Amino acid sequence: MSESIGSIREQAAADTVLTPDKIAGLIADDLVRVERMFREHLASPVKIVEEIGDFVAASGGKRVRPTLHLLTAQLCGYRGEHHIRLATVLEFIHTATLIHDDIIDGARTRRGRTSANRRWGNSTTVLFGDYLFAKAMEMALGAGSLEVMERLAEVTLRMTEGEMLQTRYVGRLDLTEDEYLDLVERKTAALFGCCCELAGLVADVDERRLGSLRGFGTDLGMAFQLVDDLLDFTGDAATMGKPAASDLREGKATLAVLDLLGSGPVDAAELARFAIEDGDPEAIARLTDLLHEHGSIERARHRARRFAESAVRQLDGFGGGPAYEALAGMPELILSRDR
Ligand code: IPE
Ligand code: IPE
Ligand code: MG
Ligand code: MG
Repeated sequence: MSESIGSIREQAAADTVLTPDKIAGLIADDLVRVERMFREHLASPVKIVEEIGDFVAASGGKRVRPTLHLLTAQLCGYRGEHHIRLATVLEFIHTATLIHDDIIDGARTRRGRTSANRRWGNSTTVLFGDYLFAKAMEMALGAGSLEVMERLAEVTLRMTEGEMLQTRYVGRLDLTEDEYLDLVERKTAALFGCCCELAGLVADVDERRLGSLRGFGTDLGMAFQLVDDLLDFTGDAATMGKPAASDLREGKATLAVLDLLGSGPVDAAELARFAIEDGDPEAIARLTDLLHEHGSIERARHRARRFAESAVRQLDGFGGGPAYEALAGMPELILSRDR
């Protein structure tokens, strides 16, 4: 008897644990429609567009941004159809920035496969990225809202500024935390904020709520990028679909490295230079050890956690319900993600 009560309790506990699959289940039909729209809008009479389009569509991706947009639309009680289109637009913009980012970073792999730039070369690939941006804007016009267009133009500018700043910061080992966080806000968090804000906008929520939704998304995006940076040192390359310590090899000092160089042993800077300039595996391994020993990884994780907590607080007042539970649980899932 007590055993069966125990197993009922266990089952009940398992039912309340939030998993990525449970979140996806809440918006499963919408996600299928987004996936379909993504492919449909990459159809073109120009064969090379379709060829790269098919490759990009098939390479998957976690679809975090559409998920965020669709859940927020549900949270706001949205009943229309624009959320499918806008979720697709947001994933197009994300995909375009990844394609350009890989050209800039000279990346060889993305999502566990040869990157588009390696496959088709920089010239064709940069144009495909432009095509995606233009396609996103063309599609967004279908939502018939000038405010939506303004937000999308603004977020595209922020992301471009972020990537441009990043190119200026390559090799800089003396960035302040504020400089680094400003970069992250532009290149990653602004789009997360936009995903949530646009859902509120089409659902016609008031200005105060719009601000909270944008704030939630932005803080979630900050946590997301800081975790991505940490996974570069702590993650498994095969799971991530890109090589370990690639940021360092690309000359990018992320938060934990900046922490170590700011307060760690004097030889850390020399080691970091060596890791960057020579991509020396031993120097990278030693630096990674130092990041752990000195507590730099832990402090960067703590910073990510603070953003995650701040994100959740901004959902106060949005009430309960499955979409709320899913969104409020996302920060924790992002902190514990491994890909
Ligand atoms: C990668 O984003 C770029 C960052 C902002 C860190 P994702 O991790 O969402 O990439 P995909 O779409 O799932 O491949
Ligand atoms: C994220 O930058 C890409 C954009 C937000 C445009 P990263 O360079 O850190 O992303 P990965 O590591 O290539 O996925
Ligand atoms: Mg990159
Ligand atoms: Mg990265």
